Amino acid sequence: MKNSTEITPAAGKVGVLLVGLGAVSTTFIAGVLAIRKGIASPIGSLTQMGTVRLGKRTEGRSPMIKDFIPLASLDGLVFGGWDIFEDDGYAAAKTAGVLDASLLDQVRPELEAIKPWPAVFDQRYVKRLDGPNVKRGRNKMDLADQLRADIRTFKADHQLDRMVLVWCGSTEVYMTESAVHADVSAFERGLEASSPDIPSSMVYAYAALKEGIPYANAAPNLSADVPALLELAAEAGVPVAGKDLKTGQTLIKTIIAPGLKARLLGVAGWYSTNILGNRDGEVLDDPESFKTKEESKKSVLDYILQPNLYPELYAKLCHVVRINYYPPRGDNKEGWDNIDLVGWLGYPMQLKINFLCRDSILAAPIVLDLVLFLDLAARAGLQGIQEWLSFYFKSPMHAPGLYPEHDLFIQLMKLKNTLRYLRGEELITHLGREYYD
Ligand SMILES: NC(=O)c1ccc[n+]([C@@H]2O[C@H](COP(=O)([O-])OP(=O)(O)OC[C@H]3O[C@@H](n4cnc5c(N)ncnc54)[C@H](O)[C@@H]3O)[C@@H](O)[C@H]2O)c1
Repeated sequence: MKNSTEITPAAGKVGVLLVGLGAVSTTFIAGVLAIRKGIASPIGSLTQMGTVRLGKRTEGRSPMIKDFIPLASLDGLVFGGWDIFEDDGYAAAKTAGVLDASLLDQVRPELEAIKPWPAVFDQRYVKRLDGPNVKRGRNKMDLADQLRADIRTFKADHQLDRMVLVWCGSTEVYMTESAVHADVSAFERGLEASSPDIPSSMVYAYAALKEGIPYANAAPNLSADVPALLELAAEAGVPVAGKDLKTGQTLIKTIIAPGLKARLLGVAGWYSTNILGNRDGEVLDDPESFKTKEESKKSVLDYILQPNLYPELYAKLCHVVRINYYPPRGDNKEGWDNIDLVGWLGYPMQLKINFLCRDSILAAPIVLDLVLFLDLAARAGLQGIQEWLSFYFKSPMHAPGLYPEHDLFIQLMKLKNTLRYLRGEELITHLGREYYD
């Protein structure tokens, strides 16, 4: 055993601040409440159901992750959030239409108690949405101060020990880094001047980091992934993670693509299309929001297949991604993938995948894991980008100059090795020569 990292105890109450009480947030909250009552199971959550192998295969040590490393308990989570609509958690979950009334009714009082605070919102960043529950302020700094006041009141009212904030709001329009994002002082001047280059999600991220609260971004918008906010995270010693939860079609893509590359099968084309009928689908029907999502979805294959190293197999890959808003399906997304493969001697083959998934059912356990792991990261003194949480994201945040790791299996190994490292256990290399010595 090596030295383990000092981790402060997980006891006490953790406030979970959610931006956007939509499909993902309400499915996550209602799920945790139901699991707490013992009426449902946390399927899909690594923190609740996963194990971690320790030592040699012959040792037979594979504890549950939650028994191995100190994580906050589900009973200690307290939920709060902001939305541009005034619906409480129960009404919002009904609107989202993901979970059955029979389940929602069993956690109804707890959901009804979650009344969203007025949001920081500007339609210029999410064109297809508008709602009444919105803050007014002198400038964006004033709005950030109002968010910080909400956070402090929530903490005091519920006597919280720690907090985590997750952006589960709608996907904002496509933006790239600009001068106002360069460092903290430029960013703060931008807040005072209400710079149009600072979208709402950055105002929330700024407020969280200033309050010393870990921040995760479930959507693909830039948000905390700019130098100014990363500088702030480093100054405040706060962990951040993002972007864009890896669910549905991209999850499957990052499961299949590493396998094809492992066997050196060529890929001439990968056509992905989806139909989706929830509010997220409606927002993504706007070309500017879709562009943010498209960038996030398209980059994964390039990084996994590495056409620079394998030009003959992947350099000419034609990768197309479509999302079509189709209201009858609600949250039950259907995705089709057609993969044109190339085998031995250049012979073509095809693989078709038809995934009838439930978007928020795949996303909710990820939000839970992110909350618990970011709280762990904060208690373990990890700050800035948490690359070990790449496992959960379509566009993992990474250090400048590095390429992001998209292969789900490498991501999982990195995550579990981080847990082993924190607890002073040997890292697992899978070399395994010792079994034959
Ligand atoms: N469901 C998935 O599998 C999945 C996967 C990856 C990413 N995402 C992303 O997660 C986000 C949430 O998805 P969803 O399905 O819950 O969408 P949703 O439309 O049901 O919920 C988003 C909520 O955010 C609110 N909102 C928007 N801007 C806000 C602001 N500035 N402040 C406060 N509230 C705001 C909206 O009113 C809405 O209630 C989206 O950006 C989506 O692209 C979802």
